[in-house]
Amino acid sequence: MRIFIIGASGLVGSNCLDCMRRDPDIQVIGSHLSFATIDTEYFNVFDPDASTFDLSAFNPDVIMHTGALTHVDYCETHPEESYHHTVESVQAVLELALKYKSKLIYISSDYVFDGKKGPYTEDGPVNPLNIYGKHKLEAEQIIQKMISDYLILRVTNVFGNEIRGKNFVAFLIKEAQKNKKKNLRLPSDQYATPINANDIGHISCRLIRDNKRGIYHLASDEYLNRVELAEKVLQYFPGSALHIEPVLTRDMNQPASRPLRGGLKTDKIKKEYSDIHFSTVNDYMEEQYDL
Ligand SMILES: NC(=O)c1ccc[n+]([C@@H]2O[C@H](COP(=O)([O-])OP(=O)(O)OC[C@H]3O[C@@H](n4cnc5c(N)ncnc54)[C@H](OP(=O)(O)O)[C@@H]3O)[C@@H](O)[C@H]2O)c1
Repeated sequence: MRIFIIGASGLVGSNCLDCMRRDPDIQVIGSHLSFATIDTEYFNVFDPDASTFDLSAFNPDVIMHTGALTHVDYCETHPEESYHHTVESVQAVLELALKYKSKLIYISSDYVFDGKKGPYTEDGPVNPLNIYGKHKLEAEQIIQKMISDYLILRVTNVFGNEIRGKNFVAFLIKEAQKNKKKNLRLPSDQYATPINANDIGHISCRLIRDNKRGIYHLASDEYLNRVELAEKVLQYFPGSALHIEPVLTRDMNQPASRPLRGGLKTDKIKKEYSDIHFSTVNDYMEEQYDL
């Protein structure tokens, strides 16, 4: 089985690359765009011929697209750029999937929902509140219309190991380790179901092996707001000088509206895989610090 991961310099992509490399039945290539790593090849979905490897020769059975513009507020103020990196990039990847007759895996988000009644099942009513969510939904819809062999994996609040340490949990760990006084204003009313990127990698391997299709929600069983999530991390740094100030979303003046009760339900995948276990934030922290 040959798998090509677009965006393997990022959080989700690098963890998927890591998991798939350990599977003897999988040959995998991962790509970066602007952030080169020793594990990745250069690949721009808008100019596939300029890549540093030969995709035709690799002839992927599966293409996993994890590339997108993920900064929600930036997307809100730069809608054309967001459209280009999310919707147009999916169109470009779809052409490749059709050309190589590959399964297409797309990583989507709980931001396709409005957050009035989360957590959501796969068939919950979509109604994105912001540009990022609208573009993720449009990308999903294009895929569903144009290709039958697809997997759309919706995730939210992804954390885990990544070279750039950009995710919220990694950011908190870095800040806590600096031991410098800092006030962090965090929303106490934005709820979601965090997931370890490593779990996305493992579960993707199983879904691919079993040739699954359709939409799946991947999430831990924890339903946390940002303050609770931060507190879970900071309990491992009792001497930290970070101070968390809980605030309401409406007082944060964020450019993009947020789904407040977001998050994802995982009944579907658990019904199909009774042994699947999603790790918690505590599991991750204890693994990091060998506790
Ligand atoms: N992180 C979350 O909490 C979260 C939540 C819900 C959904 N998601 C979705 O999960 C996916 C992965 O997110 P992430 O957090 O892993 O993002 P990330 O860390 O920012 O990684 C994105 C990756 O995509 C690459 N990329 C961007 N545009 C590209 C293009 N035109 N051609 C080729 N590669 C391109 C980037 O390359 P360079 O960095 O090398 O330029 C990077 O490797 C995204 O679709 C995101 O919407 C993430």
